[in-house]
Amino acid sequence: MTSFPELGEAAQRFVARRGKLLINGAWVDALSGKTFDAIDPASEAVIKTLAEAGPEDVDLAVKAARQAFEDSAWSRMRPVERERLINKLADLIERNTDELGELESIDNGKLQFLAKVVDVHGAVDSFRYMAGWATKIEGRTLDVSCGFPGEEYQAFTLRQPVGVVGQIIPWNFPIAMAAWKLGPALATGCTVVLKPAEETSLTALRLGELIIEAGFPPGVVNIITGFGEVAGAAIVAHPDVDKIAFTGSTVVGKLIGRQVVDTMKRVTLELGGKSPVIVFADADIDQAIAGAANAIFFNQGQVCTAGSRLYVHASIFDKVVAGVAAIAKSLKIGAGSAPDSQLGPLVSQVQMERVLGYIAKGVAEGGQVVTGGKRHGNTGFFVEPTVFTNVGADATIVREEIFGPVLVATPFSSEDEIVAVANNTDYGLGASVWTSNLGTAHRMARRIKAGTVWVNNHMSVDPNLPFGGMKQSGYGRENGRDIIEHYTEIKSVLIKIQ
Ligand code: NAI
Ligand code: MG
Repeated sequence: MTSFPELGEAAQRFVARRGKLLINGAWVDALSGKTFDAIDPASEAVIKTLAEAGPEDVDLAVKAARQAFEDSAWSRMRPVERERLINKLADLIERNTDELGELESIDNGKLQFLAKVVDVHGAVDSFRYMAGWATKIEGRTLDVSCGFPGEEYQAFTLRQPVGVVGQIIPWNFPIAMAAWKLGPALATGCTVVLKPAEETSLTALRLGELIIEAGFPPGVVNIITGFGEVAGAAIVAHPDVDKIAFTGSTVVGKLIGRQVVDTMKRVTLELGGKSPVIVFADADIDQAIAGAANAIFFNQGQVCTAGSRLYVHASIFDKVVAGVAAIAKSLKIGAGSAPDSQLGPLVSQVQMERVLGYIAKGVAEGGQVVTGGKRHGNTGFFVEPTVFTNVGADATIVREEIFGPVLVATPFSSEDEIVAVANNTDYGLGASVWTSNLGTAHRMARRIKAGTVWVNNHMSVDPNLPFGGMKQSGYGRENGRDIIEHYTEIKSVLIKIQ
């Protein structure tokens, strides 16, 4: 048994336990008995053995979720009680921040201190925000003119939970994405079958333990570990699931979008991006350089809103690119658990190879590597932070999401030109604009086709701020009032007054 000195005692105890599935409030093995391994991407060591769910396990989980939804302590629970439970869960997560942050870091590769501050803390904030929505869901009363003259009607709408929700989440922010999905489902009174990504299941399983500890009734949250093509696909295909909430690749998002039509499941999709970072000549240059570097190197570039296309006004292009490249060169690459690491490994060998493949393609298509471009070391899935210039607008690395620490920098000369170039993409998730001119900031905020436009910052999210994509970046918005609407159905009630 490998020991993990980078983990505290609680996290060590957790990884020593065999991973199971959470179905109807109990931890069970997969019916097939199959397992797979959680891997530390920094050392390539096996961290923990996990249960590999098949369609038969998914079916049990959906049945448990259905039963909990239709007739249970949960469906009869008052909103204020749901609020209290969600807040209790948030408190438990907060109390276990160190353990969860250590698990997130070893499982995903991300920097441990950021895992605690950004990921775990973000999950706590998200649950607390959503807890408040439980008591604020409302319908409307409406004046109607239906019926015959002389008749009187009273019309109103009920906003009711959508039902059993299948939630499929990615590996880049595992606990935060679990929170973004679970929070609105629990606030609205839905029940859930949650599947974490096969690369990063640990914090979802620990979260499952905390959900039990908080006192949620059995079957409200079921957690299934396993592979996308099997367990994920079984959730999407299941006839008794009312909604799918998915975050991941655009390819799988499209697959899900087509499939859900068969059963008319509701769906929200948070997909890829190729977000531009646009630096105008009047920007605070130091701030823009630091911001552009962070926009692509944070979380090793494995962020759906990563600023992967840097556009800089020609008059300051060389200076900004040199500044970003200098930061890239200076980043200390190492395991997420090492306190001096500034860039961790990518999540998996597959992801590392995908990113190195994109770098090779960038070179083959004539791009110039300013810095980086190679794997770092022979153990662990580390890739050097990489900056390209001289890449044409049609090059693969300008058009496709790389999901790694790889930046493409291009100069521009006018506002109209950069609007056209920035919008010349299939994606529309995020964009940032760096300028000291208020007019430029407001014009760009209106003209860029993206779900979020940041000005003089990039990537910040907030539970109250809608988040999601235009174009092929997805359907719907998460967070805020918007996500509550996506987890509820409107029912019209018409009463003839007699
Ligand atoms: P993916 O889309 O395959 O995985 C995301 C989730 O979907 C995982 O839980 C996976 O198990 C599940 N899944 C996979 N195939 C499925 C299917 N047929 N039916 C139902 N669920 C399924 O993403 P992958 O392969 O891990 O990464 C590929 C690329 O996707 C990345 O390089 C990146 O460009 C993008 N990506 C984007 C994310 C985002 O936040 N928007 C997150 C993760 C990946
Ligand atoms: Mg995949």
